[in-house]
Amino acid sequence: MTLLRMQDVDAFYGSAQILDKVSLRVEKGDRVAVLGRNGVGKTTLINALLGIARVGAGSIEMQGQACKNIRNFDAARRGIAVVPQGRRIIANLTVKENLMLGAAPRRPGPWVLETVFDLFPILRERADTFGTALSGGQQQMLAIGRALMANPDLLILDEPSEGLAPVIVDQLTDLLNRLSSEGTSILLVEQNISFVLDVVRRYYVLSKGRVIEEGDVSGVSIDKLRQHIAV
Ligand SMILES: Nc1ncnc2c1ncn2[C@@H]1O[C@H](COP(=O)(O)OP(=O)(O)O)[C@@H](O)[C@H]1O
Ligand SMILES: [Mg+2]
Repeated sequence: MTLLRMQDVDAFYGSAQILDKVSLRVEKGDRVAVLGRNGVGKTTLINALLGIARVGAGSIEMQGQACKNIRNFDAARRGIAVVPQGRRIIANLTVKENLMLGAAPRRPGPWVLETVFDLFPILRERADTFGTALSGGQQQMLAIGRALMANPDLLILDEPSEGLAPVIVDQLTDLLNRLSSEGTSILLVEQNISFVLDVVRRYYVLSKGRVIEEGDVSGVSIDKLRQHIAV
């Protein structure tokens, strides 16, 4: 079953074209990475799914349904939840309120406040404090917990390791592997190659708004992948 299919997608902010014929697909059970340097259009690819960047030519399907230029929350309603770059924790909401925002699509599934609190006990302890009072690593847990509250079939994470200590990135690796083994598909947008290789099976490389390479991670040389990312 294909959860997400982008076919020859052009994406724009105003009249500025950022993505040029990008094709990508994520199947049920997939763990896929999108790699690329700063500014190549990784976040824009996600924004095209969320209706934040405008999609021109090309097509997007979520769970087999066409959905070009959809509205905010529509992706989550269709089982695709995003952990945005920089976490985007809402400053004047508590930890619990931030989590409840993620439940807005009202999709049934295993993830409710209590199971997210069981996954991240620190969030239970700090449930009534403002989300932005948390440490960076805790805010990333909150952003992931918020996305899980939508009970997604596909979890998309935009540079989740950014700004995190290596020990926290190791915890994130274990978490994503666990979620994947429990049935959540993963699309990981990253620049941290060793983290990516510990999580995904396939990858796409973006450069200047185009997919310039794709393949399986097994057998690919780390140095070759690094070349696509090092500045
Ligand atoms: N809201 C916006 N309006 C116009 N241009 C933007 C906007 N956001 C990003 N860009 C431009 O789009 C390009 C791709 O950005 P982005 O998708 O954020 O790259 P990445 O996530 O790979 O670092 C960059 O040149 C950036 O300056
Ligand atoms: Mg980005």
